[in-house]
Amino acid sequence: MTINQDMKTFIENMPKAELHLHIEGTLSPQTLLTLSERNNIDFPYQSVEAIEAALANRPAGLDGFLDHHYIAVSTMKTEADFYDVTLDLLKTCQQNNIVYIELFFDPQFHTSRGISFDDQFSGISRACEQSRLQFGVQSNLIMCINRERPVESAFEMLEQARPYRDQIIGLGMDSYEELNFPLKFKEVFQQAKKDGYRLTSHCDVDVPNSLNHIWDCLNVLEVERVDHGLMAVDDPKLIEELVARNMTLTACPVRRPTDPGPQDLDRIKTLFEQGVKVTINTDDPAEFETGYLSNMLVEVQEGSQYSKKEMVKFVMNAFTGSWLSDTAKQKYVDQLQEYAASHQVQL
Ligand code: HPA
Ligand code: ZN
Repeated sequence: MTINQDMKTFIENMPKAELHLHIEGTLSPQTLLTLSERNNIDFPYQSVEAIEAALANRPAGLDGFLDHHYIAVSTMKTEADFYDVTLDLLKTCQQNNIVYIELFFDPQFHTSRGISFDDQFSGISRACEQSRLQFGVQSNLIMCINRERPVESAFEMLEQARPYRDQIIGLGMDSYEELNFPLKFKEVFQQAKKDGYRLTSHCDVDVPNSLNHIWDCLNVLEVERVDHGLMAVDDPKLIEELVARNMTLTACPVRRPTDPGPQDLDRIKTLFEQGVKVTINTDDPAEFETGYLSNMLVEVQEGSQYSKKEMVKFVMNAFTGSWLSDTAKQKYVDQLQEYAASHQVQL
């Protein structure tokens, strides 16, 4: 396929936002080798090539992805690791013209390995502050419950986060899916809502009972966004509900080494055209061929032949679906509108 250079430059230079990216999914093969050496980790791979081969050979599906993901994440140990990884990521955001990002992190996976919540938070938040000053990239943090862990462990995480309540914007949920996981965490979400957190949850694609999970996230957990959530395409009533609630879906059309193009483009297109507020996100950019946001948006545009106006709409959805204050949102919306107007794109 020939690359449309004008479209590519338009996408690359556009001021962007991202709402679904896991800090732990940004460890490049080189970073994995550096961290495992500096932390004396018995890491199963000794070269960039070996790591790339392991990525290429992951079994398809969520479990295959996560089994590899957690081996990689085990190389992070110290406050400095969390700082370095987060700062590297935010520098890459700047290179992608991402001006605002909401970042996920997985406290329970780390505390279960003996890394305190305080150390994780300190490293991550120092990097976020440094990035704001040095790169002009603004960020907010969302801590995720690991769905396969006990409810008590999720409550413990809320307690550990309490001193940092005003520096963590939201609560999310990720990791291995269990049948009817939203019902399991109802009380945790009620508590988090009382504490003032914004709420979201992963509802991954191509997993059992996905439609019920999305419905329960909306009606039982009272989430304000759904991460992934693309199986909604199979339920017209659910599509209607998502549109009526102006609910943001954070789609992640990642591409694995064996995929011909980004996954789920048809589902995304159908939902987008029916008026669902879909955003495009990279999820775990070091673990997929799609990588970071500019490249992913270029691949999505090529795969679905979206117009410039449609590409602006996807990015606008991310700004308006973000958890910024109305004034901060408006500043970015104006910036994007000016960018579109200066490229003769009528919104
Ligand atoms: N789904 C579930 N768990 C995850 C993901 C995801 O997309 N990324 C990192 N952990
Ligand atoms: Zn995710």
